[in-house]
Amino acid sequence: MAERNNPALGFLSRKSLFSLFTVTSVLFMLSWFFVLQSTGGRPRFIDRGQSPTSKLLATSDAVGGGGRESRNENEVIPSVGNRSILMDGEEEAGEAPGAKADTKCGLPDNSKAAVLKVYMYDLPPEFHFGLLNWKAQGKGVWPDIRTQVPDYPGGLNLQHSIEYWLTLDLLSSEFADSLAGRSAVRVRNSSEADLIFVPFFSSLSYNRYSKANPHRKKSKNKLLQEKLVSYLTAQPEWKRSGGRDHVVVAHHPNSMLDARMKLWPAMFILADFGRYPPNIANVDKDVIAPYKHVIRNYNDDTSGFDSRPTLLYFQGAIYRKDGGYVRQELFYLLKDEKDVHFSFGSVQKDGIRKATQGMQSSKFCLNIAGDTPSSNRLFDAIASHCVPVIISDDIELPYEDVLDYSQFCIFVRASDAIKENFLINFIRSIGKDEWTRMWQRLKEIKNLYEFQYPSKDGDAVQMIWQAVARKVPSIRMKLHKSRRFAHPLGHTESGLISFKSPKNFW
Ligand SMILES: *[C@@H]1O[C@H](CO)[C@@H](O)[C@H](O)[C@H]1NC(C)=O
Ligand SMILES: *[C@@H]1O[C@H](CO)[C@@H](O)[C@H](O)[C@H]1NC(C)=O
Repeated sequence: MAERNNPALGFLSRKSLFSLFTVTSVLFMLSWFFVLQSTGGRPRFIDRGQSPTSKLLATSDAVGGGGRESRNENEVIPSVGNRSILMDGEEEAGEAPGAKADTKCGLPDNSKAAVLKVYMYDLPPEFHFGLLNWKAQGKGVWPDIRTQVPDYPGGLNLQHSIEYWLTLDLLSSEFADSLAGRSAVRVRNSSEADLIFVPFFSSLSYNRYSKANPHRKKSKNKLLQEKLVSYLTAQPEWKRSGGRDHVVVAHHPNSMLDARMKLWPAMFILADFGRYPPNIANVDKDVIAPYKHVIRNYNDDTSGFDSRPTLLYFQGAIYRKDGGYVRQELFYLLKDEKDVHFSFGSVQKDGIRKATQGMQSSKFCLNIAGDTPSSNRLFDAIASHCVPVIISDDIELPYEDVLDYSQFCIFVRASDAIKENFLINFIRSIGKDEWTRMWQRLKEIKNLYEFQYPSKDGDAVQMIWQAVARKVPSIRMKLHKSRRFAHPLGHTESGLISFKSPKNFW
């Protein structure tokens, strides 16, 4: 711990120097800007609703290397109402060099890419299927999924069930007749693996076992995380790479709350970065996975712009922490619009049926930042072919390196959305042709968000493995670099790598 503090302090003071410099420059630029504005019509800067300090911190984090992508800072914006400014990425979806676009989804063709080789720890069942009340017979730690696949609990638990689908896919890769359509395969020899997968069902552990037992101080969820950290850090695979080539699933924003601070060198599979410090998780190192939608798929959708009566649909909780104030502002702005459905209440039981109906009969579905930047509402909207309107400045989206969301989503900055009449005028200005193009695109891409067993080519499971595989070259490069001075007889004990703090690591 002490080792961690010193570099952090140095980093902080550099950061504050940098901030001071930036504050001064910004103040100078602002004064210049006000002079210009008072002399006549000039392009306006749109305030993104952040305080100057938060903006500066975001910028200096990015400079520090571990920060999130900061987009569109200080962008010069033409007059309000021009839609092109609100959609990210004007260019066509960029193809990866050498990749051929596949005709169905316009995504890079993955069929010729090498299959990712994944070694999976044989963790005791209490970390995975044991949490589903599956009991091991004999010494085996895995169910024989050829005869029986243990069920994951339904309801809202399923939103974060990513851990379960990925584990099942690895298990089943051993029985597959062919690797066609597969992006990852389990290997038994860790030296031959590209990556090491940690099969802990962390979201389920959080959802079900985070209440402390009255007789013990710690919850089962906390204990499992402690056990996991001691197990992992004792493995030769972990020591070989310092954990860098490990894949840890922590999709529920509160899962792995304790272990994340110790396992940060690993690649995390997350819903968003909302509750992570940027040096623990960030877009460079980690992978964003979709939620599993709770609203059922709209199959055989023959609806259209004219047959969906509701213009804009939102259903969600009202009082949320952090970014939630936008929800309340929007409610007051939109509550009197006739063709807008805006109501508060969570999606439970009967709620799911109503929300299904509501989204399937709406043209646009609102996704507003709640207590975290992401929510499963977006994936419910996609499953309903309801064009998502995303108001969440810090949202990170799954597979965005290969998928252009501006083709089927509308993005509005929070600071714009809460201006009077801005959002409603903007939505009303989107015509039938444009809406229909987005609706078509939604139908083409919705399969990318489908979790199922057995997994099929191009579904969420395969897309996540591919996103993970795209991180492998940079992991290798960092590993190789870190080995430059790790001689077997040299100063690093037994050639193993140990990283003292996120700062040294990056
Ligand atoms: C919107 O902005 C773009 C880029 O500045 C400009 O080319 C276009 O003419 C504008 N469209 C409208 C309708 O104002
Ligand atoms: C695992 O793979 C490595 C490298 O290919 C090889 O040297 C080693 O013998 C293998 N171990 C086993 C147990 O097969």
